This record gives sequence, structure tokens and C-alpha cells, in this order.
Amino acid sequence: MRLQAILLSAATAVAASPDATAAATVNNIPRSGLALFFDKIEYIIMVPMVYAALLFCLVAIILRIISIFRSPRQPYSLRIFPSSKRPGLTALSDTFTMPQVRKHQPLFWVFLMLFHTAFLLLVLGHLDILPQISILSETSRHMLGGGIVGVGVTLPLFYFLLRRFRSPNREITVPADYLLLVLILFLCLFGDLMSWGNSWTANGFVMTKQDFALYFSGLARFTFADPRLVLPGSHYHFAVIHVLLANVFFLVLPFSKIVHAFLAMPINLLRRK
Ligand code: HEM
Repeated sequence: MRLQAILLSAATAVAASPDATAAATVNNIPRSGLALFFDKIEYIIMVPMVYAALLFCLVAIILRIISIFRSPRQPYSLRIFPSSKRPGLTALSDTFTMPQVRKHQPLFWVFLMLFHTAFLLLVLGHLDILPQISILSETSRHMLGGGIVGVGVTLPLFYFLLRRFRSPNREITVPADYLLLVLILFLCLFGDLMSWGNSWTANGFVMTKQDFALYFSGLARFTFADPRLVLPGSHYHFAVIHVLLANVFFLVLPFSKIVHAFLAMPINLLRRK
């Protein structure tokens, strides 16, 4: 309802403006030339590109999984011994508690656990921005965790990146590994900027979770409305950069190492059955 009211008042304001036919306006500032061009680019990033990136990611992951299942069986077994009495449970424990990493690289394991737990909460935090889902109260201006979840994903990312520069990991690291970590790190840092600004400063960030809810609601209902109408102020550009990096993340995800998220459990099952 609030989204409709805001869209209606924005449309009325533009129609009533004397120069409505000469140039578009954003927050009552006339836009023309280069500014109008960048507005269009930002709209493409914030709306059509989000749908395209998510759809592409989903289809590419499904195709990859189908191609793996269709590929010829390995002539050798991946099974490890001693064999487990409960292969399903052991594969689950291998996947989520990574006992081998805990044994040989305890510090790396701590950061891995922190990152994966925080990442799960991060997904919930993004879903919670949707007005249809209310983990926190709808009137809350904070994201789930009030900024802590962002710390939980960002700190381990710094560690994962620095770890890649040290031997023996440096020798087995290819440029794509650095690029992927840098992409995710900056993606998270721009998310943090918004969330920490909202939660840890009095008037640090002009857009709150409630404003973002209007944007997310427009996306979920395929209104194709311009997010500029509901996200005020120049901090909007930070949101655009965050969403641009998220779009790139979704586009590379099916071809990157992150696809392990979907394959870890089946591979551990093969090793244990
Ligand atoms: C199109 C997809 C995405 C959109 C539209 C989006 C949007 C947002 C918004 C609006 C916030 C701030 C919320 C607030 O302060 O109330 C945020 C925070 C955040 N986002 Fe995203 N995001 C997307 C994808 C991602 C992805 C894929 C990642 C990481 C892999 C990510 C990482 C973060 C982080 C770390 C925060 C801060 C969380 C915190 O401090 O608790 N986002 N995102």
C-alpha cells in the first residue's frame, strides 16, 4: 500500500511540474543529458539486470548439475575407508563441520565456520527485507543482526584473501581465485556500508530497511517501477554499486568455485556410500 501511495504521489509530482515535458525529475531535481543517461544505467542495474542475473544463475546451475549427472561414471571409486555405518549422516557431518579442515588447519576452519554461518544469516537478512517476510518487525530500520552479520561475512573474507598470498596457498592460486574473493569482499563492504550506516550511526544512512522493503517489494511483484522513486538521496549510488556487484556475483557463480555449495553434499555422499 505504501509503495502504491509513493508511486502515485511521485507520478503526480512529475505531471504537475511545469517542465515535466522538457526533462525528467528525480527528487524534484530536473534531470537532463548525462544525468538522464546515468539514471537509465542505474535503473537497468537495479531492475532488469537483477532479474536477468538471477534467472541466468538458476538456469546455468541446473544445466551444470544435469551435465554432471549425465557424464560417464568414473572408472574408480571415490569411497574412503574405514566405511561409515551411517553414510548419509557422515556425509552431512563432513559437509557442515569439515572435520578434515578442523584437524589440519584449525584457524582456517574457525573462519570457514564463521563465514558459512554468517552467510546463512545474510540470506535470511536479505529475505527479511521483503515486506512479505517478517523475521524482525516490519517497522525496524535495521537489517537482521543489526550489522553483526556483515562483520561475520566480511572478517573471514579478509582472512581468505590474505591467506591466498601466503605459501603454500600462493603457489596453487590462480588469478580467478583472487578476483572472486575481491568481488565478494567489495560486494559485502558496500552492503556493510548501508547496514552499518543504518544501525551504528544516528543519521548515517538516509535509506533504511523500510525504504529497501519498498524496492524489494517492487522487484518481487514485477512492477518494473524505478527504485529512485522509493530510495531517496545520493546514498542511492551505494545501493546501485552493491546491486551491480551482486549481479556480477550471480553471473559468475555457476562457473566459479562457489558452485561447491550445491555439490559438496552429493560428493561427500559418493565418498561415504
Ligand atoms: C540483487 C541482490 C541483492 C540486493 C538487491 C541486495 C541489497 C542489500 C541491501 C538493500 C542491503 C542493506 C540493508 C539494510 O541496511 O537495511 C544489503 C546489505 C548487505 N548485503 Fe546485499 N543485496 C544483494 C545481494 C547480496 C549478495 C549476493 C551478497 C553477498 C554475497 C550481499 C551482501 C550483503 C552484506 C554483507 C550486507 C550487510 C549485512 C549486515 O551488515 O548485516 N548482498 N544488501
